[in-house]
Amino acid sequence: MGTIQAGDVVCVIPCAGKGTRMQPLTYTRPKPLLPVCNRPIIGHILEAVAGTGITQACLVVSPDHGQLDDYLQDNTPCGLRVESVVQDEPKGLGHAVLCAREFVGKAPFIVYLGDSLYGDQIKQFVERFVSGWPKGLLRLQEVAEPQHYGVAMLDEDGRVRRGVEKSKEFVSDLAITGMYGFRWSFFCTLARTMPGEGGEIQITDAIQEVLEEEPGVWGEVYEGLWADCGRPSQFLAANAELLGELVGAVDPTAEVIGPPPGSQVRIGPDSLVHNTTFRGSVLVGRGCRLTNATISGPCSINDEAVIADSVVHNAIIDERARIQGFRGGVWDSIVGIDAELRNDGGNGSLSGAVVGDGSCVRLG
Ligand code: G1P
Repeated sequence: MGTIQAGDVVCVIPCAGKGTRMQPLTYTRPKPLLPVCNRPIIGHILEAVAGTGITQACLVVSPDHGQLDDYLQDNTPCGLRVESVVQDEPKGLGHAVLCAREFVGKAPFIVYLGDSLYGDQIKQFVERFVSGWPKGLLRLQEVAEPQHYGVAMLDEDGRVRRGVEKSKEFVSDLAITGMYGFRWSFFCTLARTMPGEGGEIQITDAIQEVLEEEPGVWGEVYEGLWADCGRPSQFLAANAELLGELVGAVDPTAEVIGPPPGSQVRIGPDSLVHNTTFRGSVLVGRGCRLTNATISGPCSINDEAVIADSVVHNAIIDERARIQGFRGGVWDSIVGIDAELRNDGGNGSLSGAVVGDGSCVRLG
């Protein structure tokens, strides 16, 4: 087998999951459109994929995929061809990957789960996959709670000996993070993999089948930033991690009256900031209005959001959300597009809230 290059590799991005752990936000939009640092997670993923030299990506979407299509229309990075294939029924991640079989053809492919972000923009992984050209390559990371993940057991050379999906018994603390590289023959294995719990076909089970035939799947133990955006707390953690790299700046069209924002605060075009104190890393989008507020990072505030007479700490505030009168604070929360939080009488606070798009919360 000759060598391959990144341009020969196709990227498959499963995006059809219901995102139940991110409800109510996922009642109104697919999880890959939820923002980390004011940008949909799928935007971060496509940029990373394009940066590796891969030129073709296939999104596996649910039948209700209009919003993702709209996003792709305006936001597909240069040099990347992105197509969608529909997964009609939720039959698991393995089945989602099988849906991309025709698109991939006989090309080598990577699978990039639509809710994972990596600090190295997946460059190392793709380089290792194309240079080693193994039968399979899995990006792994040591985790504290392996029972929530597929895990891999490695031998001393880094070959995968065993793969188990969400095992209650301890097998390994190396989680399969959601980045895989395979040759096209993996589709044949997936096609004969029996569904597991909940009738779902799992990639991990198919990997175990490959291993039972012959070794040749390798693990890449990755120690860099991996943000698995499955649950609200993980979204906030991912947001915090990415904000850690934020370089402060105030757009020349923004207006700041009051204390100057610190070096880790970025304020976007046309935003108005009056009498507002910032702490830590804060990203403010375009056209926001912040008045008499304390914004304590990590915090990202998306375009046209309005915050008045409130304290906000460790939060993702999405487009056009309005927060008024929360002097006691909005803590560790995610507030959806067009949501409204009002506290007209006093020191009310919210902690750990996930407020759906367009929802209204009023404290008296
Ligand atoms: C999926 C995979 C699991 C992997 C995890 C990474 O699980 O089935 O093997 O460890 O992604 O996030 P899910 O998060 O869909 O339950």
